Amino acid sequence: MTRISGFSRLNKEEKINWICKHYLDNDLKEKQVLQQYWNPDLKLQKLHDEFSENTISNYYLPFGVAPNFVINGRDHLIPMAIEESSVVAAASKAAKFWEKRGGFKAKVFNTTKVGHVHFSYEGKADQLEKFFQQNKEQIIASTEPITRNMEKRGGGLRSVELKNKTHELDNYYQLECKFQTVDAMGANFINTCLEKIAETFETLAGSSDEIKDADNLLIIMSILSNYVPECLVEAKVNCPVDDLAKAEEEQELFVRKFKQAVQIANVEPYRAVTHNKGIMNGVDAVVLATGNDFRAIEACVHAYASRSGRYQSLTDVKVEDGSFEFSIQLPLAVGTIGGLTSLHPLVKLALRILGNPTAEELMQVMAVAGLAQNFGALHSLVTSGIQKGHMKMHLMNMLNQFDATENERLQAIEFFKTHTATHNEVVNFINRIRA
Ligand code: MEV
Repeated sequence: MTRISGFSRLNKEEKINWICKHYLDNDLKEKQVLQQYWNPDLKLQKLHDEFSENTISNYYLPFGVAPNFVINGRDHLIPMAIEESSVVAAASKAAKFWEKRGGFKAKVFNTTKVGHVHFSYEGKADQLEKFFQQNKEQIIASTEPITRNMEKRGGGLRSVELKNKTHELDNYYQLECKFQTVDAMGANFINTCLEKIAETFETLAGSSDEIKDADNLLIIMSILSNYVPECLVEAKVNCPVDDLAKAEEEQELFVRKFKQAVQIANVEPYRAVTHNKGIMNGVDAVVLATGNDFRAIEACVHAYASRSGRYQSLTDVKVEDGSFEFSIQLPLAVGTIGGLTSLHPLVKLALRILGNPTAEELMQVMAVAGLAQNFGALHSLVTSGIQKGHMKMHLMNMLNQFDATENERLQAIEFFKTHTATHNEVVNFINRIRA
């Protein structure tokens, strides 16, 4: 029997025993694999256990930092949580390159967030509109106890609009609500407001003259949207073309290939997905390190990349009058207060390393990390190719697979300074020195 009811009520030890018995052939070594990641500090372990349900261990990711980022004239050390071996190295290399060329410039356009009460209504649209306009103020006023604190911090509910969507789906309407949530990601705040708005709307509809038969109105759901195209940030770098490579010929070739690489990502979705994936290597690493919601950010960014009807590059390049400008625009709904940010010790530390940024400042750091990553990837792709640097960073992982000793590692590092570290080459090398 490999099903169970009441699993969540078992304690951690009991859960693991049950898993070992039913899914791991009673292999006690697997129990040790889980236990070796438990933190001996019981208070810290309990904190992590309580982040989620049915936790049985901790899942480590490397927590690294990329130095030398200059953003709007200020030095930044960017914390990054990511397992892919070349990401932090590529970010650091790009930071070093641009640090000498004026650094990154970033700005936030807006931080508006959106949520909807989705409902169906079978009556006349103009009567619904009349009812809504008559009751809009009362609907907004009913959220006052929820929005009071947010308003004191400069945020709150900014607008509620009725949207007729019946041309897309029979009887489908929305109350589209816009919010400012200052330094909080704001998901709970927005959802609480939306549920209150839905409740007030439904109650008022029940006693309204316009909506004669309130049974015609059915609230389907109230939920924030993770698509926040208005919550937009931009990061840029620029330098004279002469500064991009030593020889003039090299500069021209580099610029030509670099531009074409971005254009390819604008017309070829197969390439655009990988191009943007590379950008998200940088963005997600900062999102994770700072305790933000990477699923929300990923979903939003990719929808934004498709806003023209075709999935395209998030970055753009302009070369004019001998000047090279590389930029990114992307929507990022992030928080620097609330959620994990005040609970997870490493998240708190990451934010402190960043100088306890506002949400807008953090958006800028993330956009910069994404731009830096794309610059590094495209630079390698159109010059040396990606594998040289990638495999060099991956060498340690391959040596770990072979349980290489310290001495073997040192020999391998020396050897692969002048040889390409493909998987086969590493296997051959290990076999050779062990023979
Ligand atoms: C690998 O994680 C990311 C790249 O493939 C991105 C790109 O191709 O632009 C190197």
